Amino acid sequence: MHRKSALALFACLSLSALPLFAAPTEDLARTCNACHGINGVSVGPNMPSIGGLPEAYLKNLLLQWKTGERYAATMDRHVKGYSDAELEALATYFSKLPWVPVVQKADAKVIAQGRNASDRCETCHGATGSEPDDEETPMMHGQWAQYLELELLKYRTDAVKMPHKKMRNNAKKMDAADVAPAAAFYGAQAK
Ligand code: HEC
Ligand code: HEC
Repeated sequence: MHRKSALALFACLSLSALPLFAAPTEDLARTCNACHGINGVSVGPNMPSIGGLPEAYLKNLLLQWKTGERYAATMDRHVKGYSDAELEALATYFSKLPWVPVVQKADAKVIAQGRNASDRCETCHGATGSEPDDEETPMMHGQWAQYLELELLKYRTDAVKMPHKKMRNNAKKMDAADVAPAAAFYGAQAK
């Protein structure tokens, strides 16, 4: 740690003829990791893992939070301190890390109910949430179930600003009783 910062200082000094440059993305990411876990792998059920999510998905969220197009309880405040270019660089940085599923246990009956409810989701998310059909779709296998459930509730609530219409329509078509089981099903998938 100390040696690294000494080296960084040395690099700065030796480049002092150059104009000031932006902080390296890795340093910016350390702030994110304080909540989202080392390498973006979260250790808490309310906090999503972000390492390895698709680049376009990450960019969409970070920029939509900044413009206020998308609701957040917390993240809107965090993104305000960064330029668009820094947010894009953070999206690229996190997208290059491996996705590490945190596989959670759930009751077999609940998982079976969730699997049934997820039939309609398969075309976009893949059978277990691990095969998003495009770069704007997140993986969900081994994402924290409690977080996935919260997200589904946001998509289902008109008053909450969530700009993706198709995902919103799909979430709204779910039976209320299937929301938590679907989240538990994805959270329990290793791949
Ligand atoms: C103080 C804790 C905290 C910090 C620091 C933080 N986040 Fe978050 N992040 C959250 C919370 C809480 C959520 C859930 C959404 C909300 O409530 O805003 C979230 C959600 C996210 C999501 C959504 C993931 C998904 O699958 O939907 C992304 C992406 C994200 N944060 C990226 C970042 C990045 C990049 C940084 C660093 C610039 C960062 N976060 C810093 C707390 C934090
Ligand atoms: C037409 C394609 C499509 C279908 C069908 C679909 N989704 Fe999605 N889903 C998406 C996209 C795209 C996103 C990201 C949207 C955004 O940026 O808000 C998403 C996001 C999500 C998220 C948020 C994950 C996170 O990390 O925040 C959850 C949870 C989710 N989908 C669950 C489901 C479930 C459950 C179903 C079936 C009932 C479903 N989806 C059907 C495309 C789809």
